[in-house]
Amino acid sequence: MVIHGTHMVRVLVVWCIVASPSARAMNHGYAPSFDYKDALSKAILFFEGQRSGKLPSTQRVKWRDDSALFDGESKGVNLSGGYYDAGDNVKFGWPMAYTICLLSWAAIEYPRQINSVNQLGYLHSEIRWGSDFILKAHVSSTKLYTQVGDGNRDHSCWERPEDMDTPRTVIEINAHSPGTEVAAESAAALAAASIVFKSVDSEYSSKLLKHSKSLFEFADKYRGSYQGSCPFYCSYSGYNDELLWASAWLHKASGESRYLNYAISNQRWSQAATEFSWDNKFVGAQTLLAKEYFAGRSDLETFKTGADSFVCAVMPKSGSVQIRTTPGELLDYNQDCYHIQDMIN
Ligand SMILES: *[C@@H]1O[C@H](CO)[C@@H](O)[C@H](O)[C@H]1NC(C)=O
Repeated sequence: MVIHGTHMVRVLVVWCIVASPSARAMNHGYAPSFDYKDALSKAILFFEGQRSGKLPSTQRVKWRDDSALFDGESKGVNLSGGYYDAGDNVKFGWPMAYTICLLSWAAIEYPRQINSVNQLGYLHSEIRWGSDFILKAHVSSTKLYTQVGDGNRDHSCWERPEDMDTPRTVIEINAHSPGTEVAAESAAALAAASIVFKSVDSEYSSKLLKHSKSLFEFADKYRGSYQGSCPFYCSYSGYNDELLWASAWLHKASGESRYLNYAISNQRWSQAATEFSWDNKFVGAQTLLAKEYFAGRSDLETFKTGADSFVCAVMPKSGSVQIRTTPGELLDYNQDCYHIQDMIN
């Protein structure tokens, strides 16, 4: 549970960026007294503390050193890099990909705002640290490495990654043993990152999009629920949400109508949700597709209806509000922030 809680904090922080908290605070009629610039900077800096692999000279969290340089060696592949999950040393590819996707979404929606406090360059570095790892892990059109480390062995020994001596077990998905959630989520992450880097490094952006398309095809063609990271990250919502989410991102990144057609022909999968998490991405897909609905695609109404229902769960004055916000206007699913507050007090 420690993993889930800690990961959730990270995702909430990212969602806080996406939800533009200061604007929401103003709407409540009080002047924000929170230092959102500091919160944003720290939310981004956090990722440097989670970096695995050979650290660059630009590394700002100086008490971290190189670690896990030989990840993947047992399988003859170089899987150094990427991010540790939380307070542990496992690299879980599925929530890692989701995190990269959300960081990219923030960079796509709010580049000016993030740049105005000099954080956009750092955000790009954190995205690239993760997208580089997904590229390394995607070794062929039907093979993706999805985890390094053994959750049980790792959790029974709390040590810093620079010193760890626990097994660096490698998990993969392939045509015989597929994992649609993680393949589709990796596709979504790379498509979103390809948009981020389009004007920054077009060659890198094209490479990300190429891998994204291949991962989506693999996810869709070889369907099977990913249970490789269970009991730490088990899929409760199935993989239809990831397939819709990935197709929406691929359409946004490539402009190709086949990805939008995919979402339309599978719109029966869309479900109302009061959660947006490493497991359940329906709301994310609905939000992306609702934007296309408002741009004139009336055939996407199902998704717009799903997004409406989430908005009603979030709006403080809506009759069906289900999600609380913290005093600083962070969306607080499951009241995680209050639990953390209790732990600190
Ligand atoms: C693995 O790749 C990294 C670059 O991503 C490189 O610095 C490192 O030397 C490689 N490790 C091995 C064992 O080849």
